[in-house]
Amino acid sequence: MHSDNQRSSATLLTHAAQLLTLRSPSGGSGPRRAAEMRELGIIEDGAVLIAEGKIVAVGTTDEIAKHELLTAKAAHVDEIDCSRKVVLPGFVDSHTHPVFTAPRLIDFEKRIAGATYEEIAEAGGGIRASLRGVRDARRQELAAHVVRGLDEMARHGTTTVECKSGYGLNFAAEMKSLEAIREASHQWPGWVVATLLAAHVVPPEHRENPEEYVRIICQDMIPTAAKLKLAAYVDVFCERGAFSREQSQRILRTAVEYNLGVRAHVCQLTPAQLAPLIEFHPASLDHLDFVSDEDVAVLSKLDTVATLLPAANYFLGLDTFAPARKLLDAGVAVALATDYNPGTSPTASMPFVLSVACTHMKMSPAEALVAATDNGACALQLQGRKGSLEPGKDADIAIFDAQDYRELAYWFGVNRCRETILNGVRQTAA
Ligand code: NIG
Ligand code: FE
Repeated sequence: MHSDNQRSSATLLTHAAQLLTLRSPSGGSGPRRAAEMRELGIIEDGAVLIAEGKIVAVGTTDEIAKHELLTAKAAHVDEIDCSRKVVLPGFVDSHTHPVFTAPRLIDFEKRIAGATYEEIAEAGGGIRASLRGVRDARRQELAAHVVRGLDEMARHGTTTVECKSGYGLNFAAEMKSLEAIREASHQWPGWVVATLLAAHVVPPEHRENPEEYVRIICQDMIPTAAKLKLAAYVDVFCERGAFSREQSQRILRTAVEYNLGVRAHVCQLTPAQLAPLIEFHPASLDHLDFVSDEDVAVLSKLDTVATLLPAANYFLGLDTFAPARKLLDAGVAVALATDYNPGTSPTASMPFVLSVACTHMKMSPAEALVAATDNGACALQLQGRKGSLEPGKDADIAIFDAQDYRELAYWFGVNRCRETILNGVRQTAA
C-alpha cells in the first residue's frame, strides 16, 4: 500500500558518518536474537544508491561512486550529502492504534491525581472514552487523523507502521476504521499494515452479554475484514477487564480459519500464561510486562517476536517495565514499538522509545536499534523487504543529525531526524 508519488531516477546518499546497514550477520531470515541483536553492520563514510523506490547498492562512498548506474551518463542523480549524519533503515513501528479523534485529557489528569489505568476504565474512561468520536466521524475524517499520525511518525524516522482499529467497537465502526487505515495508506508514501483489533474492550451496549460481542467479532467482523482484505492481522487484548483467555482463543482461532495473521496484547497489566495464545502461532506477543520465567524460556525457541512498548509504561507513570534484559539474555527475539494511542502512549516517536528502552529497560543502544528496525519488520513478517539496508529491499531510510548511532537513544525530547525516505520518496522532517 503506497502512493505512486514521483520518484527521481536515482538517489545517492553519500558520506554518512555511520551507515547502519543492519544486514543480517548470519544471513538468516528469522528474527534476530542474543548476540545478533547487537550487530548493526556499520559502514563509515557510507553511501546508499536508490532507484525506483528500491535500494540498489550499499557500501563506502568510494565504492558506490563506481557503480554503473552512476557512470552511465543518462541517469539523473539526486545526491544527498550525509556528512555528520547517521543513516539507518527507517524504523518499523509494529504496534500502533492511530484511528482515534481526540486526546484523552480527562484520563491524563485523573491519572496524575492518582487513579490507575484500570480504575479509569471501570469508571467509563479508557478505551471506551474514544469510542464516540470514532463512531461519529466520517471515514475521510478518520483517515485524516491517521495520516496526521503517520506523517508525525515519518518526521521521527519511521517508514513502516502497523495500524490497528479498535475504538469503533461495533461492526460498522470497526470496518470504517479499517477503511480509514486503507485510505490513509494511499495518502502516505510509507508502508502500512492493517490489524483488526475489534477485541480491544467490550463496548457498553454488550456489557451485560460480552459473548454476543465475541460472536459478532467471529461471525461478522473477521469474515468481512478477510473477504474485503481490510486487515492482514487480528489482534486481541487478552487481559482482566478486556477479553478472557477462552474468548481470545476463539477470536484468534477464527482469524486463523480465515487465513489472517494473529498477534495479541498480553501480560500488560496482569500475569497470564502464553501457551493458549502461542497455539495460534502469533507473529508477535506485545507488552509482556508480567511474562513468567517459564514463558521466557518457551519464547526463546520461537520466531514469535516479543514486542515491548515502554513508552506506555512511561506515560502511565509506572515504575515497572517489561523484563527486557531477561528476554534478551534468554535469546528471545525482541522488537520495540511506540504503541501510539490516546490512552497509554501518545507519542509517534521511535527515538523516544529507544531512549526509554535504554534508560528504563537496560537495552543497549544497538539492541534497541535492531529491535526498532529488523525485528519490527519480522514482527510484521516483512523482513524480506523492510528492516535493513540491503540491495533489493525497499528504499526506507532515516537520516539523523548525529555521528554515532548511540546518539539516537541518547538525545531525548528533541527530534534529530532530518530526513526520511519512504519507498524512495524524500520527506524532510522540518
Ligand atoms: O496497548 N492495552 C490496550 N490497548 C492500548 C491502550 C489503548 C487505550 O488506552 O486507548 C495499549 O496500551
Ligand atoms: Fe497497544
